[in-house]
Amino acid sequence: MIKKGIILAGGLGTRMSPITKAVNKQLLPIYDKPLIFYPLSILMLAKIKDILIIVNKGQINQFRKILTNGKKLGINIQYKEQNAPNGLPEAFIIGEKFIGKEGVALILGDNFFYAQSLTKTLQNARKLNLGAKVFLHPVKNPKLYGIATIKNKKITYLKEKPTITKSNLAVTGLYFFDKHVVNFSKNLKPSKRKELEIIDLLNKYKKKNKLSFEFLGRGGAWLDAGSIDDYYDATSFVSAIE
Ligand code: DAU
Repeated sequence: MIKKGIILAGGLGTRMSPITKAVNKQLLPIYDKPLIFYPLSILMLAKIKDILIIVNKGQINQFRKILTNGKKLGINIQYKEQNAPNGLPEAFIIGEKFIGKEGVALILGDNFFYAQSLTKTLQNARKLNLGAKVFLHPVKNPKLYGIATIKNKKITYLKEKPTITKSNLAVTGLYFFDKHVVNFSKNLKPSKRKELEIIDLLNKYKKKNKLSFEFLGRGGAWLDAGSIDDYYDATSFVSAIE
């Protein structure tokens, strides 16, 4: 059973510069709430109450002002800094002490999820004991994401931002990992773009036949609010739903 979760909310936000020069992307509004409220609510829907938020150097106070220690929400929030955007799996190295000897969920601070049966899907995923679980969602522009190819209900191939691919299934920014994630992350080597890659980490689980997936499901929406256009899409989506 996964009881802990990490929100990775650092990054340079270069695609949204100059707005993100002074304010972290995850603190900007999606309709009437800061973006980070959405990934936080996903962890809460999964009944995860112990949460570590990883932010850029010098930004803890900005986040703490909005989210505090979580007591009012019935959760426990801790904060840690990442010195530079060295890649998503660095979250597990920074979070080693927080994770301890347990499994952990990771959600990216700029990922927005909405689906009918999400609560059920999340609470099922939380039961993970061994291995890793990802959530796949079809996209129109697979070149922008980590992409998975599946066959016979198994992931057969994973590739970060492929130039050519036959699959349109994006690996969304929500992951559940077992207790081996810290050691696996420590053994990763930086890629050509000098980052530790989440796809490399997932491939370690895949090699051991311990990688599973689920779809977000019918009527599900997923947005990676990395660019201004994605931001506006998410904002109009939330405004329409509310
Ligand atoms: O959104 C899903 C995609 O996220 C996945 O499909 C890809 O496999 C995965 O690599 C990632 O791709 P992105 O290009 O969207 O990652 P990005 O560098 O934009 O970072 C995503 C979020 O994580 C963003 O809010 C910034 C934060 N971040 C990123 C890195 C690399 C950090 O806080 N620290 C980091 O070191």
